Amino acid sequence: MTEKQTWSQRFESALHPAIARFNASISFDIELIEYDITGSQAHAKMLAHTGIISHEEGEALFNGLEQVRQEYRQGQFQPGVNAEDVHFAVEKRLTEIAGDVGKKLHTARSRNDQVGTDTRLYLRDQIQQIRQQLRDWQTVLVDIAEKNVETLIPGYTHLQRAQPVSLAHHLLAYFQMAQRDWERLEDVYSRVNISPLGCGALAGTTFPIDRHYTANLLHFDNVYANSLDGVSDRDFAIEFLCAASIIMVHLSRLSEEIILWASEEFRFITLKDSCATGSSIMPQKKNPDVPELVRGKTGRVFGHLQAMLVIMKGLPLAYNKDLQEDKEGIFDSVNTVKACLEAMTILLQEGLEFRHQRLATAVTEDFANATDVADYLAARGVPFREAYNIVGKVVKTSIAAGKLLKDLHLEEWQEIHPAFAADIYEAITPRQVVAARNSYGGTGFLQVRQALINARTQLSVK
Ligand code: ARG
Repeated sequence: MTEKQTWSQRFESALHPAIARFNASISFDIELIEYDITGSQAHAKMLAHTGIISHEEGEALFNGLEQVRQEYRQGQFQPGVNAEDVHFAVEKRLTEIAGDVGKKLHTARSRNDQVGTDTRLYLRDQIQQIRQQLRDWQTVLVDIAEKNVETLIPGYTHLQRAQPVSLAHHLLAYFQMAQRDWERLEDVYSRVNISPLGCGALAGTTFPIDRHYTANLLHFDNVYANSLDGVSDRDFAIEFLCAASIIMVHLSRLSEEIILWASEEFRFITLKDSCATGSSIMPQKKNPDVPELVRGKTGRVFGHLQAMLVIMKGLPLAYNKDLQEDKEGIFDSVNTVKACLEAMTILLQEGLEFRHQRLATAVTEDFANATDVADYLAARGVPFREAYNIVGKVVKTSIAAGKLLKDLHLEEWQEIHPAFAADIYEAITPRQVVAARNSYGGTGFLQVRQALINARTQLSVK
């Protein structure tokens, strides 16, 4: 038989052991213990501040809770399934330590506003950690981009060679995605950082509590205006999971590119031994497990977002036990995003090398300069659509002749159109093709250099 539950007085008989296990959340909500203690300490202070309990009692509760924290940190306090959840576990241990005064802690509070407080305190910390990791990630992207302004790489649309770009420009695209992720999390934070403490079970409390007092102690920006909303809102969790999912989209897209780039078909990068793995049967293999795992783990985070949305849909006010299901998805998403950001940062920083020789060749072996030929004519007065049609034919005949545009003789160019002159050759070199795209936000070297300066400025915002 299981130990008596905190609420057992109202019941005739004990909980079935399997149901006790089914009901318990301690195996995962132990993750919240330090936040639970911090939240309870603020609550205890408020109870004393408002005269609901004496100052001595308030201090005894505060210190007792601090002892629970120390015992937990030292591994001496490890609550099991009997505790049901972390909130009961802490209260029970506090009462063992502090005596009867421990039983006063739960005055004017419910586990419903308590768990909401804990989850927000946890998420607040985690959001700041993830934002710092995003900064590290962005820094690595800019560091590599700065060294590769003049490194050219084929640019694709439809995964077909389109126009060459600066490798820095390509990496800075991911920098911008990470910048939005960083900003998005700041925005999410503002709605995570609202205190539900004092909403009680659902309707508030009969005691003269001071919700702003606890909110201040816990550095919340504001308090929930409506108690029913305060205990049952999980919008902040949905928003966080959405932001986490978008981070994963970005990491997964780059992962996919790295996997392609490492393939024999592309050969744009070499994976270093520190970040690649071998096969159990094929001795020659070197596999991009890191980006593959990031791509794969993306699915879990999307799943947690979906699960949270479905948990909330159709939930009547206010708290329902369904809400206990929010935690594992939040924890797993936090851990997954953090692990993926760390792994990708290491991978970029020291786990791969761009094959400069191969990239330099790659950008010369296709028709990715065809637009530039059309632009050349258009700049000399030929209407663009007409120029486009002319170049389309040139591409067709060149392919048939097994030639690239750079291989055409000047006479051939002039036969195609009299506007062509000797400077056409320079205009279609990959370097010039890239340099010429000097429109704002384009891949032209001047633009990219300016973008790098802007990126450093963005990074200086903490
Ligand atoms: N373990 C619960 C949870 O995570 C705590 C809140 C329980 N509230 C209740 N009314 N049973 O949601």
